[in-house]
Amino acid sequence: MRVLVVGSGGREHALCWSLAASPLVTELLCAPGNAGIADQAECVPVRAEEVEALVSLARERRIDLVLVGPEQPLVLGLVDRLRAAGIRAFGPTAAAARLEASKAFTKVFCARRGIPTADSRIFRRSEAEAARKHVRTAPVPLVVKADGLAAGKGVIVAETVDRALAALDDAFSGRFGRAGETVVIEEFLEGEEASFFALCDGERILDLGTAQDHKRAFDGDRGPNTGGMGAYSPAPVLDEATLARVMAEIVEPTVRGMAEEGTPFRGILYAGLMLTADGPKLLEYNVRFGDPEAQVVLPRLATDFAELALATAEGRLGETKLAWRPLHALTVVMASRGYPGDYPKGTEIRGLETLAGEENLIIFHAGTRREAGRLLAVGGRVLDVTGLGASLEEARARAYAAIDRIDWPEGFCRRDIGLRALLRDEARP
Ligand code: AMP
Ligand code: GLY
Repeated sequence: MRVLVVGSGGREHALCWSLAASPLVTELLCAPGNAGIADQAECVPVRAEEVEALVSLARERRIDLVLVGPEQPLVLGLVDRLRAAGIRAFGPTAAAARLEASKAFTKVFCARRGIPTADSRIFRRSEAEAARKHVRTAPVPLVVKADGLAAGKGVIVAETVDRALAALDDAFSGRFGRAGETVVIEEFLEGEEASFFALCDGERILDLGTAQDHKRAFDGDRGPNTGGMGAYSPAPVLDEATLARVMAEIVEPTVRGMAEEGTPFRGILYAGLMLTADGPKLLEYNVRFGDPEAQVVLPRLATDFAELALATAEGRLGETKLAWRPLHALTVVMASRGYPGDYPKGTEIRGLETLAGEENLIIFHAGTRREAGRLLAVGGRVLDVTGLGASLEEARARAYAAIDRIDWPEGFCRRDIGLRALLRDEARP
């Protein structure tokens, strides 16, 4: 089978790493890929947003299956275009991708389907005055969200009315372009956050595991929000009983509802959850794998991922059962100093070769380029150092031991990934 992966981050490296291990995959391409992905796949210089160029590439190279990593091409309709061209694709259509592309769509959908989520009101730009009035009378903290894709910058948790008003003005001012033309204002939910991944073929759902991300840039959950500075899987807070509720109350009604409404969901449905005193509630859906969550979920999977992706794309997950390796995984993101703000590009990373072949250690590349034999950092998030082990503690120790051997003075990482889960376990009677 000839397979094309779309994207260039650590998530796509994890996808390529899994696919390369499958005996079904005879040829593996990645567009555009990165220096680490080049070890597993042929990297082709087509960007993830270039929908027509990707369809042409898939045609020319007679690709049997395309896996789409990031959300933008899904929202732009890449899967629709591939299917129209007779090419199998792993990922939702543009209509199903609205679960991520429009927070207002998802809120209305949840209300229609009785899916537990934060209470909210939706306002268009032409209703800005009504939105301000609502903010002045609603209890704080309030959460103000731009409706559309805003690269993780569209959500403001406002502690005061003034902050909420400023967030509203910001969105309506056009800072997020069309993504901010509509705003969702919702109640603040208290609890612990966790992520659940469901593999869906339009009808059937397989439990693809749980993870917890670390969104803030610095230790102790301080500093600005990022794409994610580290993750571990499984997430012990999502115990069996809670997971059963997430399935029955959130994921199953979503997949059923999307099918009934003529927009069946195929691919990975990523539920961002808040575990509140009233039970699990949906914070948001993403219509793709998490980054860096894929880097901790995929290495734990024992089932052939290529077979799984094909079965998903062909709508025959019914025959499939998942098997897991009895391992915990933890990944620490190494980022360029300055991220998520401005950072220098082209700084050199040394020492990775000393880690090659190490057992239960995988270094996924997120933003690297090789030039004249040197490995250069060319992105914000650059490496995802992933440890595996019989316990979370062991996985964590492995990841940090490897980080200490990487020589990259211009990089930084959080030192507390997974620490909260470990301390919680210790506190248990
Ligand atoms: P979202 O992109 O909607 O998941 O929001 C990004 C982050 O904002 C989440 O991961 C939460 O940390 C926080 N957040 C979003 N909505 C709420 C809410 N209703 N209550 C508390 N925190 C929230
Ligand atoms: N790590 C968060 C995300 O992928 O959206």
